[in-house]
Amino acid sequence: MKPLLLNLFIPLSSCLVNLSLPLPPLLFPSPWLSFLDPDPSYHLAISLLTNLSLPEKINLTTGTGWQTTRCIGSTGSIPRLQFPSLCLMDGPLGIRYVDNASAFPAGLNVAATFSRRLLRLRGIALGSEFKGKGIDIMLGPASGPLGRSPKGGRNWEGFGSDPYLAGERGVIAIAKHFVLNEQEHLRGSVDVRIGDREMHEVYLWPFQDAVKAGVGGVMCSYNKINGSFSCENEWTGGYLLKGELGFKGFVMSDWGAQHTGLGSAVAGGLDMTMPGGGLGEVLWGGGEMIKMVLREEVPGWRVDDMVLRVLRSWFKVVGEKRRVNFSAWTNETFGAELFAANRSWGVVNEHVDVQGDHGELIREIGAKSTVLLKNNGMLPLSEKAGSIAVIGNDAQDWNPNSCPERACMPRPGTIAMGYGSGTAEFPYLISPATALLLRCQQDNISFFNTTSNWDLLTARKIASLAEIAIVFAAAQAGENFVSIDNNFGDRNNLTLWDNADALITSVASVNPNTIVVLHTPGPVLLSAHATNPNISAILWAGFPGQETGNSITDILFGDVNPQGRTPFTWAFNESDYGPVDIVTSVPDPKNPTQYFQEGILIDYRYFDSYNITPLYEFGFGLSYTSFNYSNLTITKLVPSINSFPAPPPQKETGPAPTFGHPYSKNLTDYLPPPGFEQWEIKPFIYPYLTNSSINSSWPLSPTNNSLFPAAAYNSSSQPVLPAGGAEGGNPDLWTPVFNISFSLTNTGNRNGTEIPQLYVQLGGPPTENAPQVLRGFDEIELNVGETKQVLLQLTRRDISNWNTEEQNWEVIKGEGIEKKVFVGASSRDLRLEGVLDVC
Ligand SMILES: *[C@@H]1O[C@H](CO)[C@@H](O)[C@H](O)[C@H]1NC(C)=O
Ligand SMILES: *[C@@H]1O[C@H](CO)[C@@H](O)[C@H](O)[C@H]1NC(C)=O
Ligand SMILES: *[C@@H]1O[C@H](CO)[C@@H](O)[C@H](O)[C@H]1NC(C)=O
Ligand SMILES: *[C@@H]1O[C@H](CO)[C@@H](O)[C@H](O)[C@H]1NC(C)=O
Ligand SMILES: *[C@@H]1O[C@H](CO)[C@@H](O)[C@H](O)[C@H]1NC(C)=O
Ligand SMILES: *[C@@H]1O[C@H](CO)[C@@H](O)[C@H](O)[C@H]1NC(C)=O
Ligand SMILES: *[C@@H]1O[C@H](CO)[C@@H](O)[C@H](O)[C@H]1NC(C)=O
Ligand SMILES: *[C@@H]1O[C@H](CO)[C@@H](O)[C@H](O)[C@H]1NC(C)=O
Ligand SMILES: *[C@@H]1O[C@H](CO)[C@@H](O)[C@H](O)[C@H]1NC(C)=O
Ligand SMILES: *[C@@H]1O[C@H](CO)[C@@H](O)[C@H](O)[C@H]1NC(C)=O
Ligand SMILES: *[C@@H]1O[C@H](CO)[C@@H](O)[C@H](O)[C@H]1NC(C)=O
Ligand SMILES: *[C@@H]1O[C@H](CO)[C@@H](O)[C@H](O)[C@H]1NC(C)=O
Repeated sequence: MKPLLLNLFIPLSSCLVNLSLPLPPLLFPSPWLSFLDPDPSYHLAISLLTNLSLPEKINLTTGTGWQTTRCIGSTGSIPRLQFPSLCLMDGPLGIRYVDNASAFPAGLNVAATFSRRLLRLRGIALGSEFKGKGIDIMLGPASGPLGRSPKGGRNWEGFGSDPYLAGERGVIAIAKHFVLNEQEHLRGSVDVRIGDREMHEVYLWPFQDAVKAGVGGVMCSYNKINGSFSCENEWTGGYLLKGELGFKGFVMSDWGAQHTGLGSAVAGGLDMTMPGGGLGEVLWGGGEMIKMVLREEVPGWRVDDMVLRVLRSWFKVVGEKRRVNFSAWTNETFGAELFAANRSWGVVNEHVDVQGDHGELIREIGAKSTVLLKNNGMLPLSEKAGSIAVIGNDAQDWNPNSCPERACMPRPGTIAMGYGSGTAEFPYLISPATALLLRCQQDNISFFNTTSNWDLLTARKIASLAEIAIVFAAAQAGENFVSIDNNFGDRNNLTLWDNADALITSVASVNPNTIVVLHTPGPVLLSAHATNPNISAILWAGFPGQETGNSITDILFGDVNPQGRTPFTWAFNESDYGPVDIVTSVPDPKNPTQYFQEGILIDYRYFDSYNITPLYEFGFGLSYTSFNYSNLTITKLVPSINSFPAPPPQKETGPAPTFGHPYSKNLTDYLPPPGFEQWEIKPFIYPYLTNSSINSSWPLSPTNNSLFPAAAYNSSSQPVLPAGGAEGGNPDLWTPVFNISFSLTNTGNRNGTEIPQLYVQLGGPPTENAPQVLRGFDEIELNVGETKQVLLQLTRRDISNWNTEEQNWEVIKGEGIEKKVFVGASSRDLRLEGVLDVC
C-alpha cells in the first residue's frame, strides 16, 4: 500500500519546513500531557498551575537571560508563591565552572566499562554533587552525538556508537542533544536529512530509553532536521518525542538554539527557552509570549502544557527549594550575585566541597574503562619490571585548568577530558608519570621519564635505558565555540597529535618492550603500531578524569584486571568508516546539508555489512585471564510473537487541559507590577508587556497562525499512536520475549570480569539489516575456575524493525528472514549461537 503524502510548508523561520510523511500520522497538534497521568507529581503540578497568572506561567518557561544569575541558566521565579528560580548547570562529566567538585571520567569511558553498576554509581555521585551546590537541573547526560562519524567533536561526552549501549544509563537529568547533533562543524546551520527508519533504529533509540527511564528534560539541538531547526521541528520535538515516545518532561533549548518564538512554541513543542535572552533574541520573555497568547497564535493549552511539564519534573525530582552556593562567573569568594547587572555584591562562592569519596569511584571507572587492545604477554607488569621509562607530554603533571574550556595548545601535560562546555574544573589531577613513579618506588623499580614529544633523540636515549618503555599519546576534540590548532570541535584527522606517531615509532625502534597508552576522544589510526612487534601492548584509556594516573597504574600492574571494551570500531583506514565525513564533505557551506545516506549502517554495522576488516572491532577488549562460553539456552517467554505490538492501552489522549482561562484582554493587566522600576534588574528578562508596546497598538486578533495547519490549534482528544501510549512508547515493546542463558567460566589463572555481549541478527540482506546488532551485555566477575550462569533478556523492541508505512515496530518474518542470537566477547568474537523462533 502506497502511503499518501502530506506536504507542509511553513515559511516562518529562516528555513522552509518540507516534511513528507505518510498519512496518518498527524504531526500536529503538539502533544500535551494527559489528564490520565497517574503520577502524583502531575497532580502536584496541576495544583500549583491552577493558581498561576499568565505572566507567572511564562516566567517558568523562560530563562532570565545570559549571565544574569550565578548559574549557566535560570528560570524566572514566582515570588508570590515562593516558587524558586531554577538553577541549570553543565554538564555531563562534572559541574562546569565551579571548584571543590569532581572531574569524572567522560561518558565514553563509562560506556567502555559496559557496566550498568558503574554507570549508575557515577550518576548518583554526579547528582549528589549538583545538589550539594544547590543546582536543580543538570545539563546531561549526552545521548547524542552517538558517534556517526569518528571525528565528531563531542563523541566523548556521549556513550559510544551503539544506540543500545547508549540507552542504558538510568539517570534522571536532561538528555541531550536532541537530535542528530552528530557534528560540531557548522552545527548551527547544518540540515540533516534522514529517513524515518534510521531515525528510529539508531538515533532516537537511546532517547527512547531515557524517556522510558523517566528523564526529566530533553534539550533540543542546534542543527536542522529535514529543513527545520530541531527546536521548532514538529516531527522530532512533537510527534516523535512527545507523541510516540510519550515523553512527560519538558523540552528546553540548547543555548541560542531557539530561532523563532512562534515556531518553537507551536511546532517544536519547546517548553523552556534558554538562556532566555542575551544569546539570540528574546523570543518568549519581554512580553512576546503574552502577545502571542492574547492573539491566539500560541494556543493557551500549549502554555499550560509547558508549565505542567516543567513543574511535573520539578516535583518528581527536586521538590524542594535549593540555595545556590557558587557562582559560575567568578572564582572569587566575593562577587556580584547578579553578575550581568554587577549588583548584589557579597559572598557568591562558598567553595562547598561536594566531592565526598568520589575519587575512589573515579579511579575505579578510569581503570575499568581502559581497553587493552594488544598484549603479547608483557602486561601486567607486576614482578617483571626492573626499570620503566615514561615517555611523552601526555604522561605529565601540569595545571590542567590553565586554559579556558580546557582548550590548550601547546599542552605540556596529560589529557583527561575534552574541551568545550562538557568540561569541569579539575579539583586535582594525578598524572600517569606521578602515579607510576610512586608505584615504582614501592616496588623498587627504576624510573626514567622524559617529556618532549619532539625531542626524539632524548626519547630514544631514555627508552633504551629501561627494560620497559611506556609512551603516552593523545588527541583532542571538543565543542565548536573553541578550537585547538584549527580543530573546531570535530577532529580534522584521525591521527595522534603532537608528533606522537613519530615518538611511538622512534621509541619502539630501540625498545622491544614498548607499551602505548592512548588518551583520545575516539579511534585513531593505529595499524602501524598494532603490527609493530616491538610494541608489546596498546591500551586505550579515553578521557578518564582526575584520577587518570592511578587508574592506568592499576591496570598496568594488574591490580585491576581490564574489563573495558571498545565502544566504537578502530579502522585500518579512515575511508573504512563509510560516507560519514563531517569536516570536509559539506557541499554548500552557506546552506550545508548532511545526507545520512548510510542509513542504519554506522560503525560496526557498516563494517560487518560490507565485510570490511576492522583493526579492533566494536566490543573488543582483552583481559589478563580467559573465559569460556558454553551451554546456550534460549527460552521463549510468550506462546507466540505477533508481528506488531498489542495496541496501546489507551486509544485517545483526552482533550488538552487548560487552567485559569480565559485570560483578561485588558492589556494593562500585563504591565509590570507597581513599583517595578524600583526593583527591576537590568538586563533580566521579565514576562511583562511595556507601556510602549501597549501603545503601539498591536492587533489582538491572530495574524500569524495561518502559518500552521488548522490541526496545530486543535485541542480535542487525539488518537494515541500505535507505537506510543506510555513513557518510552508502546508498553508492549518492553515485554520480555526471550531469555538467553549461558554458562561463563574463568579458564585462566587470574580473577577477572568478563563482558558477555549478546547480538541479534534481525534477518534479511546484510545491507538492509546489519549481520548483528548489540542487544544485551553484562558485567560478570569470575574467580579463577569459577563458572556462573548468565541470563540476558530480549524484549519485543530488541527483535523489531521500524516499519515506516505502519509507523510501528514490526518483528519481520518470512522467506529469507532468519533471526539468530549470538553470544560472545565482542561483535566479531561470537562464541555461541542459536535461532530465535519468532512464530
Ligand atoms: C517539498 O517536497 C515536495 C515533495 O517531495 C517537492 O515536490 C517540493 O519541491 C518540495 N518543496 C521544497 C520547497 O523543497
Ligand atoms: C490562587 O489561590 C488563591 C487562594 O488559594 C486565590 O485567592 C487566587 O485568586 C488564586 N489565583 C489565581 C491566579 O488563580
Ligand atoms: C519572574 O521572575 C523574576 C525573576 O526571578 C521575578 O523577579 C519576577 O517577579 C517574576 N514575575 C512574576 C510575575 O512572578
Ligand atoms: C576549595 O577551593 C578552593 C579555591 O579554589 C581551594 O583553595 C581549596 O583548596 C578547595 N578545597 C578543597 C577541599 O578542595
Ligand atoms: C550550599 O552550601 C551551604 C553551606 O555553605 C549549605 O548550607 C546549603 O545547603 C548548600 N546548598 C544545598 C542545596 O545543599
Ligand atoms: C526526511 O528526509 C528524508 C530524506 O530526504 C526522508 O527519507 C524522510 O522521510 C524525511 N522525513 C520526514 C519526517 O519527512
Ligand atoms: C576559574 O578558574 C579556572 C581554573 O581553575 C579557569 O579555567 C577559569 O577560567 C576561571 N574562571 C574565571 C571566571 O576566571
Ligand atoms: C618528569 O620529567 C619532567 C621534566 O624533567 C619533570 O618536570 C617531572 O617532575 C618528571 N615527573 C616525574 C613523575 O618524575
Ligand atoms: C592531525 O591533527 C593534529 C591536530 O591538529 C595535528 O597535530 C597533526 O599533525 C595532524 N596530522 C596530520 C597527519 O596532519
Ligand atoms: C546449563 O544451563 C542450565 C540453565 O539454563 C543450568 O541449569 C545448567 O547447570 C547449565 N549447565 C552447565 C554445564 O553449565
Ligand atoms: C483595564 O484594567 C485597569 C486596571 O487593571 C482598569 O483601570 C481599566 O479600566 C481596565 N480597562 C478596561 C477597558 O476594562
Ligand atoms: C580470587 O578472589 C578470591 C576471592 O575474592 C580470592 O580468595 C583469591 O585469592 C583470588 N585469586 C587470585 C588468583 O587472585
